[in-house]
Amino acid sequence: MSSAEAEAIVDPKLFADFERLNLVLRDLRQAERMHRVEPEGFEPFWLAVHHEDIVAIEKASTRFLSAPRQPLFSLAHQERSRKAGGGSDSSHFIRNVTAMDGEEHRAYREISQAYFTPKGMEAVAASVENLAKEFIDKMVDAGGECDFARIAMNYPLRVIMSLLGIPQSDEPMMLAMTQQTLSGDDPDFNKEGTSGLAAVLNVRDYFMRYIEQLRANPQDNLASVIANARINGELLPERDVFGYFFIAATAGHDTTSYAISGGLHALLEHPAELAKLRANPALLHTAVEEILRWTTPVKHFCRTAAEDCEVAGKAIKKGDIILLCYPSANRDEGSFDAPFEFRVDRRPNRQLAFGTGPHVCLGQYLARLELTCFFRELLARIDDIEMTAPARFVEGHFVGGVKELPIRYNVIA
Ligand code: HEM
Repeated sequence: MSSAEAEAIVDPKLFADFERLNLVLRDLRQAERMHRVEPEGFEPFWLAVHHEDIVAIEKASTRFLSAPRQPLFSLAHQERSRKAGGGSDSSHFIRNVTAMDGEEHRAYREISQAYFTPKGMEAVAASVENLAKEFIDKMVDAGGECDFARIAMNYPLRVIMSLLGIPQSDEPMMLAMTQQTLSGDDPDFNKEGTSGLAAVLNVRDYFMRYIEQLRANPQDNLASVIANARINGELLPERDVFGYFFIAATAGHDTTSYAISGGLHALLEHPAELAKLRANPALLHTAVEEILRWTTPVKHFCRTAAEDCEVAGKAIKKGDIILLCYPSANRDEGSFDAPFEFRVDRRPNRQLAFGTGPHVCLGQYLARLELTCFFRELLARIDDIEMTAPARFVEGHFVGGVKELPIRYNVIA
């Protein structure tokens, strides 16, 4: 397998072709465990495609650092960002847990951790359930036809924005910011080719005003806890407190939306599995894990080697970038029985959609809760669902999934 084939991994269009993506990744896994990739317009990197290697790299968090880069952006994108920042790169304006390591990372994560544990979920379960009902009501009101991806896009947005106390009227701005930052290569989301940093700077003043209000009038909620957090006795500096709101506001919704839209798409493409789930709703728990494995909305995160070392027989040099390819890990034949089969009762299922190790997704229990509430409600109230046109997927190599899913359905009387 040539480096050229591995280079496809930075082509946004590959991710819009779900089947081809998975076949390309299968070929890459069969060819080698670690690929050296040197695509034009990008810094060279190592591509890790095996489940076992990705887990090992994520767990060796002193050897493989999260700073300084999380997604791998093209050099052109980095240049556009620097221009938008008046010559400074984005870390000058914004920083969050994904870019931290060691003790600092632990301290920052701890600020909000309690809100996102399984115990923390008990406090929000009823409101998430109500929001799931509200969004299925919208499907009922739509009269039997809708673009399901729109429903799926707006429900997790409402969940996280209500947790952060952001009014509904500001949700479109938040959605645009997320799509331009995390999926900015998709022409539907970023018509003007805005750089990630320009989108970030658009909301900085908004968040800083909100943070000042919360500092003046502290409350007993997640947003106030973040705004008023102290490390070593000091309130967080602007780029870190803004970064905290930013990561909570962006990481917390479109990822979950793509799991929901892609989850329904998978069920519709596998009618026997949908029938199995309808016949036995107790399978919802394993079905949600399988949906997460199947859709894998986050396509990669990077690590940077802190020292010379070896991974799967390859000599990695200090400073080398490693791209952890989650969709590949989640179809790794060495870790899953028949990985190309979608099975709502798959057990065991060591899916890696949330990553692992110290940076494992902070919102994983919230995402699971949202998926569970939504599909439980959908299965109970909507039937005879069929696609009226093929699904369309996001173009982008960082975060993506089904962005358009026109369906027809019946409401259960
Ligand atoms: C299906 C939905 C989701 C998926 C697939 C997903 C996936 C991921 C992945 C792959 C990572 C990086 C893990 C690593 O580096 O090992 C991550 C980190 C993170 N996620 Fe999620 N996520 C989802 C939903 C959420 C939600 C609902 C929130 C709520 C706020 C959230 C907040 C975060 C945060 C704050 C981090 C950074 C954690 C750290 O660096 O310590 N995510 N997520």
